[in-house]
Amino acid sequence: MTVPPLSIVVALAENGVIGRGNALPWRLRTDLRRFRDLTWGKPMIMGRKCWDAIGRPLPGRATVLMTRDPGVAPEGAHVARSWEDAKRTAQHLAATMGAAEIAVVGGAEIYRLALPETSRMHLTRVHDLTPGDVVFPAFRADEFRETFREEHPAGEGDQHPFTFIDLQRR
Ligand SMILES: NC(=O)c1ccc[n+]([C@@H]2O[C@H](COP(=O)([O-])OP(=O)(O)OC[C@H]3O[C@@H](n4cnc5c(N)ncnc54)[C@H](OP(=O)(O)O)[C@@H]3O)[C@@H](O)[C@H]2O)c1
Repeated sequence: MTVPPLSIVVALAENGVIGRGNALPWRLRTDLRRFRDLTWGKPMIMGRKCWDAIGRPLPGRATVLMTRDPGVAPEGAHVARSWEDAKRTAQHLAATMGAAEIAVVGGAEIYRLALPETSRMHLTRVHDLTPGDVVFPAFRADEFRETFREEHPAGEGDQHPFTFIDLQRR
């Protein structure tokens, strides 16, 4: 089986913050639309806390939910008990769905597992020093080259201006 590449999708503030109180610390309607477009028709790997924050399976995508808790087995998610298990499950789902990549959608614990292996990153750099309790893990920027950049003022439903940045592993 061909292994589809991993692709991280994340919105992070200027200070690296991605979450507060197990929720997104901002409202960015334009970014939610981009998230939907980037993940549509693909398997998504996410952590249990991220799953709790979203609170439901997202339509048009398959969710691989990482948890060590044997009691967690919600409807609408494929549960994985380890990183290897998550990748294997996502690969099978990608083959079934005809998806060319696997989206890794957080939170920080899951990004940390994926970072050494991810081929791409779709970043939304939120132009704010947002207070929060979860930050995106440090990574070697020189291991990636920028392939796309688009700046946006805050539009309707967006609390901050932001920049979409795509990175590809060199
Ligand atoms: N800005 C963004 O783009 C973005 C994206 C996603 C999430 N977020 C935010 O990030 C925060 C959540 O991130 P987080 O780092 O606290 O949690 P998380 O990564 O979403 O989930 C952590 C959980 O994943 C499970 N897990 C982790 N490693 C595992 C492994 N190796 N094997 C099996 N299960 C494993 C564990 O679940 P159990 O405890 O059940 O065992 C762990 O408690 C929230 O605030 C959320 O809103 C932001």
